[in-house]
Amino acid sequence: MTRTSLARLALPWLAALAVAGAHAEVPKPVIEIEPGTESCVAPPEEMRRTHMDLLSHQRDRTLRLGERGAKVSLNGCISCHASRTTGSVNATRQDFCETCHAYAAVKLDCFECHQSKAPARQSADAAGAKR
Ligand code: HEC
Ligand code: HEC
Ligand code: HEC
Repeated sequence: MTRTSLARLALPWLAALAVAGAHAEVPKPVIEIEPGTESCVAPPEEMRRTHMDLLSHQRDRTLRLGERGAKVSLNGCISCHASRTTGSVNATRQDFCETCHAYAAVKLDCFECHQSKAPARQSADAAGAKR
């Protein structure tokens, strides 16, 4: 394990997860992966630590270099991780992105511009940031 990943593991929210029993008032994240979803862009233990960096890196590449259709994309996250019940990654506390972020008290501004619902899969390419 590298130094960087150790540093990530030492983040307070992970420590908080480890002692979650002591915070009974805050519901623990319940991560639901819809059955039949293809595997993630990286192994789950890596995704837990680095997804924020992957996303900001890709945003920079898109905005500065015009790169599109990369493996890491916010719409990609949403098309796999949107709930089949709400169609969204953050409409309720059970939805994939929100379940952890609510627990860790992370507030995203991303969805002020980006849609948070999965478009019909066949039109996924057409769905950019809504503006
Ligand atoms: C003020 C509006 C705005 C906000 C807020 C915003 N974005 Fe974006 N984002 C855009 C626009 C516009 C693009 C360019 C879309 C294009 O040209 O394809 C973009 C592109 C991206 C891309 C590359 C294209 C893709 O689909 O992957 C990523 C990744 C991304 N944003 C992630 C984020 C994340 C993560 C957040 C929150 C931390 C965020 N953005 C917040 C407007 C915004
Ligand atoms: C092709 C579908 C797909 C895409 C695209 C995808 N994921 Fe995943 N993701 C999965 C699956 C399936 C899992 C469960 C582990 C596995 O099988 O890889 C997962 C696991 C995860 C986990 C770990 C959850 C846990 O168990 O703690 C995180 C965090 C995550 N994804 C975030 C993201 C983010 C952020 C994006 C966009 C950059 C993304 N995923 C893109 C399918 C996807
Ligand atoms: C396994 C739990 C978990 C899941 C699932 C998860 N996140 Fe996160 N995310 C976190 C934690 C914890 C942080 C704060 C980490 C830190 O402070 O370094 C975070 C931070 C972020 C950030 C940076 C926010 C900021 O203000 O710096 C972005 C962007 C982000 N997540 C996007 C997503 C998206 C999009 C999804 C759903 C596709 C997702 N996350 C799913 C746990 C998760």
